[in-house]
Amino acid sequence: MEFSIKTLAPERAKTGCLVLGVYPDGALTRAAQLADRAARGALRRALALGDLTGKPGSTLLLRGVPGLAAQRVLLVGLGESKEFGEQPLRDAVRGAASALRELGAKDATVYLGELRAARRSQAWGLRQLVLGLREAFYRFDQLKTQKKPPAPALAAVTLAQSEGPVTLQAQAALKEALATADGAALARTLGNLPPNICTPSYLAQEAKKLARQYKLGLQVLERRDMEKLGMGAMLSVTRGSHQPPKLIVLRYNGAAKSKKPVVLVGKGITFDTGGISLKPAAEMDEMKYDMAGAASVLGALRALAGMKAPVNAIAVVPTCENMPGGGASRPGDVVTTLSGQTVEILNTDAEGRLILCDALTYTERMQPEVVVDVATLTGACVIALGHVATGMFANDQKLADELRAAGEDAWDRVWQMPLWDDYQEQLRSNFADMANIGGRPAGSVTAACFLSRFAKKLRWAHLDIAGTAWKSGREKGSTARPVPLLVRFVLRHAGAK
Ligand code: BES
Ligand code: MN
Ligand code: ZN
Repeated sequence: MEFSIKTLAPERAKTGCLVLGVYPDGALTRAAQLADRAARGALRRALALGDLTGKPGSTLLLRGVPGLAAQRVLLVGLGESKEFGEQPLRDAVRGAASALRELGAKDATVYLGELRAARRSQAWGLRQLVLGLREAFYRFDQLKTQKKPPAPALAAVTLAQSEGPVTLQAQAALKEALATADGAALARTLGNLPPNICTPSYLAQEAKKLARQYKLGLQVLERRDMEKLGMGAMLSVTRGSHQPPKLIVLRYNGAAKSKKPVVLVGKGITFDTGGISLKPAAEMDEMKYDMAGAASVLGALRALAGMKAPVNAIAVVPTCENMPGGGASRPGDVVTTLSGQTVEILNTDAEGRLILCDALTYTERMQPEVVVDVATLTGACVIALGHVATGMFANDQKLADELRAAGEDAWDRVWQMPLWDDYQEQLRSNFADMANIGGRPAGSVTAACFLSRFAKKLRWAHLDIAGTAWKSGREKGSTARPVPLLVRFVLRHAGAK
């Protein structure tokens, strides 16, 4: 789908579909007013019939409206004008997108980007619009051989404003949003791919493709490299699997060499059976998403490179499978991590922290500005925050504040949880420096506390995306979260805005 941005009187838009916002009380947005005037009141008359509820995202399609150059007009409900904010804008975008998907129109001219959600800039609206449309048109049907629905016809979208010049900020917002959408699409597809295809080796191949396409630096550590380094925790997780483990390091240099990089670490368990502490069968297929953190940091790198952002960023992806088997680690095993600290593995299903702890230690040699890890780490985080907020933990409050603000900005929000020392004692072990689990109370907090023991030398934050990375049920699929958050965070952190 091609996007462009321009100033254009709505009545003169020669387009397959003109998309205009309306409020339920019959009030029209500026662009809808102009179109209605040119159509001698045809829009208002259509609305007066009462077919459009006006709820955010409700739509009404009109054809052959006189006085307009457009072939179709799609009226989109925005909800009460007084209540117009982030969520109604997003609902309106989603409603418009699903209506556009059903049409034969090859192009559309959309006047929703000029709407300002309360307190939000035009750039904000444009980013939401582009990401929302690209998400709605995303399809994953590469593994279906029959009855593939035909691809939607829509090939070109004009983001239009009825008046005023197109600003540099608007152009920049479009460029950023398109690159972010590309990164999100990559994360989505990597997440949705089945675990027999998306293996650690597959992720390494994908990183290689990115490196070639965007001229990124790439290094892939193999099992023997991990052995030489002494990554005993990471190696203990991969032991039950026939798939070789990888540690992927992908570097994007968009700023001066002297500028310290932002390092993004993504959990890359391509399938989590639980290992010897085997998970129950129900919904176990969803554990293919246990590499969503890895997918999101690769997606974020693609986005930053794609928009040529003036930043230095590195994605670090420890990736392997967590399988049972004759060689698998046992509950009770004690392993030595790359940091030298020892861990008693009391539950082999708490494997994410075991691969992340060695990856975190490994980032020290990159002299990072900050390190943010992203992981589908704990079921407890889903209980705490549901599917709305990503759990956030940090050993540096300034970094936490930046992530929270970036999440609000991207509308890909996080909620901070405590990392207090009081929780650390739950990790005590009789036989090693620590255990890998802290019992049922505050499961996400003790998981973060475990990681914090390997981040003492870092300005570090941890994002638990267990509840936000994918949807279950009929709508099962990757959300690509937190790609929008990570991109916004890196840009804001570098002062690129
Ligand atoms: N990948 C899971 C966490 C998970 C579970 C995410 C369900 C999303 C939905 C992780 O490796 C895991 O199994 N964690 C355990 C930790 C426990 C053994 C301390 C959990 O959450 O049950
Ligand atoms: Mn697990
Ligand atoms: Zn896991």
